[in-house]
Amino acid sequence: MTEAIQTLRSEHKTTARMLDLLERQITLFEETQQPDYDLLKEVIDYFLTYPDLYHHPKENLILEVLRRKAPEAAAPVGDIEREHAEISSRLHDFAHAVVEVLMEAEVSRDAFVKIARDFVEEQRRHMIKEEQVFFPAALKALTPVDWEAIDKKVSRFNDPLTATESELRFDSLRQMLRR
Ligand SMILES: [Fe+2]
Repeated sequence: MTEAIQTLRSEHKTTARMLDLLERQITLFEETQQPDYDLLKEVIDYFLTYPDLYHHPKENLILEVLRRKAPEAAAPVGDIEREHAEISSRLHDFAHAVVEVLMEAEVSRDAFVKIARDFVEEQRRHMIKEEQVFFPAALKALTPVDWEAIDKKVSRFNDPLTATESELRFDSLRQMLRR
């Protein structure tokens, strides 16, 4: 397997675990209205930085190469860039809702829970599609030369939660993931 796809898959694993953490916080909020504030804040920082800023552009780049080299293989993948843009806009709405909750502003509990659950579900659906349709199509159609060029471009933008200790930034999240 190529380094790029290997990294994207391991980033998906981290994201999936983040979504589990987030879901637990949503349930906690529903039950007690008392989420783990620091954790929620770090989860939001994580989503804004890694998946939004670095992970999705890497996938967009691979899809662009796939469309150019093998349009017939790219067709079933659909418009992943648009999905990324929608996820990004939903993420920003969600991030603002979290900050309002963290500041204990008067927000409707039901509205917040709905935004949060929609966000989690959409992320999961999107990752399943990439894992089941996009990555296999790219792996099948692109050549080692294509992957070498892709790996070179994307390898500097890896998620620190899947990278080595020395590169890590999100300390308490890393500890939570270890538990
Ligand atoms: Fe992805």
